[in-house]
Amino acid sequence: MNHGVTIAGTGSYVPEKILTNEDLSKLVETSDEWIVTRTGIKERHIAAEGESTSHLGTKAAQKALEQSGLEASDIELIIVATITPDTLTPATACYVQQQLGAERAVAFDISAACSGFLYAMKIAKRMIESGAFANALIIGAEKLSAFVNWKDRTTCVLFGDGAGAAVLRASREGEGRILATDIGTDGQQTHLLNIPGGGSACPITLDNAGEGLATLAMLGKEVFKHAVTRMKNSANTVIERAGLSPEDITLVIPHQANLRIIDAIASRLAVPNERVFVNLHKYGNTSAAAIAIALDEANREGKIKRGENIVMVAFGAGLTWAAAAIEW
Ligand code: ACO
Repeated sequence: MNHGVTIAGTGSYVPEKILTNEDLSKLVETSDEWIVTRTGIKERHIAAEGESTSHLGTKAAQKALEQSGLEASDIELIIVATITPDTLTPATACYVQQQLGAERAVAFDISAACSGFLYAMKIAKRMIESGAFANALIIGAEKLSAFVNWKDRTTCVLFGDGAGAAVLRASREGEGRILATDIGTDGQQTHLLNIPGGGSACPITLDNAGEGLATLAMLGKEVFKHAVTRMKNSANTVIERAGLSPEDITLVIPHQANLRIIDAIASRLAVPNERVFVNLHKYGNTSAAAIAIALDEANREGKIKRGENIVMVAFGAGLTWAAAAIEW
């Protein structure tokens, strides 16, 4: 009997090196006080030289597999959500497949910025429900440090590196399941947040190489406004689709971009702050990895118990947004 799709295991990994706000104040004109007040971020992790997005994703995936009880060789589908792929082609998921030794898995990437992990969750859920695949490994992994303009104080203080993963499979009797998902896109707002160079629209050439075009560019204030509205609406959509009300939600895991955005959403959803998961002070914004890392931490710290309802909600470049309601 089909009981839906469950999360059988979670995992996360962040690189060893920590870059504090103090460290950043030596690189650009900023201060711990400015960064903490405007964003809530204290420090972020930075990948080592030679450590790429697939390496981070593979380490997170190994932990998720271990918890799920499945072997790499059991996995039938790998989706990596990332905006910082190892290479433009092949997909980062192919490198992960190789590093894990998951030979049977079909592997591909999706690019939906910070909403990517929840986009991947929706795709994998549908694939499993349809019977196309028995299970899936979904991964949000980013090495944003490779695409940050370290001379631009308005963006370089915000981002960090890391990865999170989850193993999805058909739910068995008595297990939790993904209750509802929502994804959306507004392509009118591509200009608000992007990496303008390095793609076919603007290849990096000898002439423009010094212009920093292959780094993140953002209109922060505009992004902020859209983020609050879109995340609130998307969270409400999945709560309603799941037949729940905000009081039924034990934990909200929002995208970890800015504490002020998180506070604004919590108040608009009428969820008390103690039921909102926050870890961005340790990692900054890790884009597609952020919700995946937060989910794993909440899981391993015992902040979610079987039978409880949680909501994850994200927002990112595109613009994209996504939410999922889950009975744990
Ligand atoms: N240190 C010190 N001063 C700074 C810094 C810094 N790091 N960055 C900007 N400033 C200055 C500005 O130059 C400006 O100075 P001015 O008044 O003399 O012109 C002043 O601080 C205020 O700048 P604002 O941009 O108005 O600051 P704001 O309060 O809007 O905060 C921030 C900026 C934190 C980027 C905010 O707009 C924000 O969080 N936006 C949302 C961004 C976001 O979440 N993006 C990610 C979502 S999607 C994804 O993750 C891919």
